[in-house]
Amino acid sequence: MSATQIERRGPVAVISLVNPPVNGLGSAVRSGLEAAFNELLSDDAVTGIVIAGAGRMFSAGADIREFGKAPPPDVPNLPELIDWLEESSKPVVAAIHGVAAGGGLELALGCHYRIAAPKTRLGLPEVTLGILPGAGGTQRLPRVAGVEAALELIVSGRLVSEREALKLGIVDEIAHGDPVEAAVAKARALADAGTPPRRSSARDEGLAAARSNPGLFDEFRKGMAKRARGMNAPYACVRCIEAAVRLPFAEGRHFEREEFRRLVDATEAKAMRHAFFAEREVAKIPDVPDDTPTRPVETAGVIGCGTMGGGIAMVFANAGIPVTVVENDSAALEAGLAKIRANYQATVDKGRLAQDVMDRRMALITGATEFEAVAGVDFVVEAVFEEMPIKKQVFGILDRVCRPDAILATNTSTLDVDEIAGATGRPESVIGTHFFSPANVMRLLEVVRGANSSAGTIATTMGLSKTLGKVGVLVGVCDGFVGNRMLHQYLREAAFLVEEGALPQDVDRVIYEFGFPMGPFAMSDLAGNDVGWRIRRAKMADHPSNQRYSGTISDRLCERGRFGQKTGAGWYRYEQGRTPVPDPEVEALIAETSRELGIERRTISDQEILERCLYPLVNEGAKILEEGIALRAGDVDVVWIHGYGFPRHRGGPMFWADTVGLGTIAAAMRRFRDEHGEWMAPALLLEKLASENRGFKDL
Ligand code: COA
Repeated sequence: MSATQIERRGPVAVISLVNPPVNGLGSAVRSGLEAAFNELLSDDAVTGIVIAGAGRMFSAGADIREFGKAPPPDVPNLPELIDWLEESSKPVVAAIHGVAAGGGLELALGCHYRIAAPKTRLGLPEVTLGILPGAGGTQRLPRVAGVEAALELIVSGRLVSEREALKLGIVDEIAHGDPVEAAVAKARALADAGTPPRRSSARDEGLAAARSNPGLFDEFRKGMAKRARGMNAPYACVRCIEAAVRLPFAEGRHFEREEFRRLVDATEAKAMRHAFFAEREVAKIPDVPDDTPTRPVETAGVIGCGTMGGGIAMVFANAGIPVTVVENDSAALEAGLAKIRANYQATVDKGRLAQDVMDRRMALITGATEFEAVAGVDFVVEAVFEEMPIKKQVFGILDRVCRPDAILATNTSTLDVDEIAGATGRPESVIGTHFFSPANVMRLLEVVRGANSSAGTIATTMGLSKTLGKVGVLVGVCDGFVGNRMLHQYLREAAFLVEEGALPQDVDRVIYEFGFPMGPFAMSDLAGNDVGWRIRRAKMADHPSNQRYSGTISDRLCERGRFGQKTGAGWYRYEQGRTPVPDPEVEALIAETSRELGIERRTISDQEILERCLYPLVNEGAKILEEGIALRAGDVDVVWIHGYGFPRHRGGPMFWADTVGLGTIAAAMRRFRDEHGEWMAPALLLEKLASENRGFKDL
């Protein structure tokens, strides 16, 4: 089947892009468009042309899989093709539905008019792939929508609704019937009236304001500096929009192309492409085929309405799924429901949620104090205390009460899902769902596969994670699963670095500059140092004797009531709000602890901080892959990008490790083992790949 189709509607011809699932503008589509235009431009019976997308959407843009590959000869590249279409003397109208993203919107901007259907999303998200809109988008959008809007849209990569696009002038009309029909009528009217084509490249009104405000770009760069730290693409986007104001269109387009070429093969773009495809690959489970029957989840139950349970109930309600929450007694239930209400209210007060939407969501949440209330639901998430005997008891009851085909999930971050499943007579319907806190905000969901979880249970839970707006990653049973198991390595070494000579602010600065939203100590203060303290005290007996204890300073902080932000002090002081301020009292405590431990404090370089924090984390990731706890290196990357803020532009820890070189990391781990102890020994898989000069990407 051809990648484009032509249909005549009177004197107007409609060209449809036909490249499922997203009408990516790969070489076949570009050739097809070129051929169709050649045919229609030379056909005197055709007075106007409409471009539309067949299937789900207009177009999601350039075919990302073609990046880094040489295009076949004789196929026009997208920027030249769009320039040429725009030159058409016959009116060209875009009929947009679904999505017009990246090259899809650039193609539409090359058309003379744009008509969008309701529920369409439009934008230039290239920056999220480490590149820029390289088919004229940085030149045409500011001309059409104004420089400030273009800066905001292109640098954030945000998609907007058709209504916002209309306000911004990106689309000319919203079609209330069939958008193709409306576009055909528009093209016909333009042709009949003999209106000359309105070419975006020749428009100037959007640029005028910026010409009289030359400080605009520096101001914008200042505003984005924090978010764009360590990245090149956002700055290149700004330079191109600046060029649109400064240079004639053709020169600006040339400038954009040069900037695009520099970005597209750089590590930043490769890392972000990897993240894009890894996020989609997580849904593919080799032994759970796509056609595995799933169970529709129309109603849900949540056991426990504490912080996690309440957050999880909100996740269901946000997705429009009625949810029943069960608590021990009415006082706990009332408190839990009040917390949920307050959470929603805060979002409404900030103007980020409409009151009626909040009311609808609250109406989907029903409270109960009896387990029988969840007897008829399709999917139950247990979120009670993280203690095995309590969880087993709850599962025993759920097994008795719930309908036989219901799925029973445990929201555990540490416990053995198989042991919990053993408390029921239906271990095949039991699975782990490890939500991250706050559950209604964090996108990661570790789906923990028990030894007996059936394919249907896994497929249903993975599908549900998408419905809930989460990125579900399937992991196996082990202590801490993927994310927290690796986190443990990172936090331990951060603590040792402080005992050896670094200060919390040194470690946090290095990690922040690397691209994490915050370093390990600021993070601990946010989460509450007392959480780890309680766990360490409970587990003291099984602390590995061959390993240095990493909790000394944290324990002492907690003994002084320094639990973190919530007590106004932790590793830092918090005078006003959430900004951590280094505290001389903590520095004194650190120095004293080092002395007591017999450690002579030394100067620790930024490079050592980075290596000591991140290499052991990667090393643990290698063990996780070796043991089959995660299916693919990309799955580990997705866990870290969405659960822990690992910078996306570095691709996740395993991708990043490949860019460093596994030989370098294995050698460093050997050195760390010799200097510190056996717990730093390189993973077998790391050693093996390093010796074969391969990377995690080659697995
Ligand atoms: N090039 C190549 N493949 C693409 C693609 C593109 N621009 N956009 C999506 N795909 C693929 C996905 O990898 C996925 O493939 P798979 O089924 O083999 O995993 C499939 O198309 C469906 O995409 P998915 O993201 O799962 O669909 P969705 O309906 O959830 O989202 C979009 C649709 C358009 C919003 C989303 O795909 C998207 O954001 N695409 C990228 C847009 C973009 O950045 N364009 C600029 C390119 S430079």
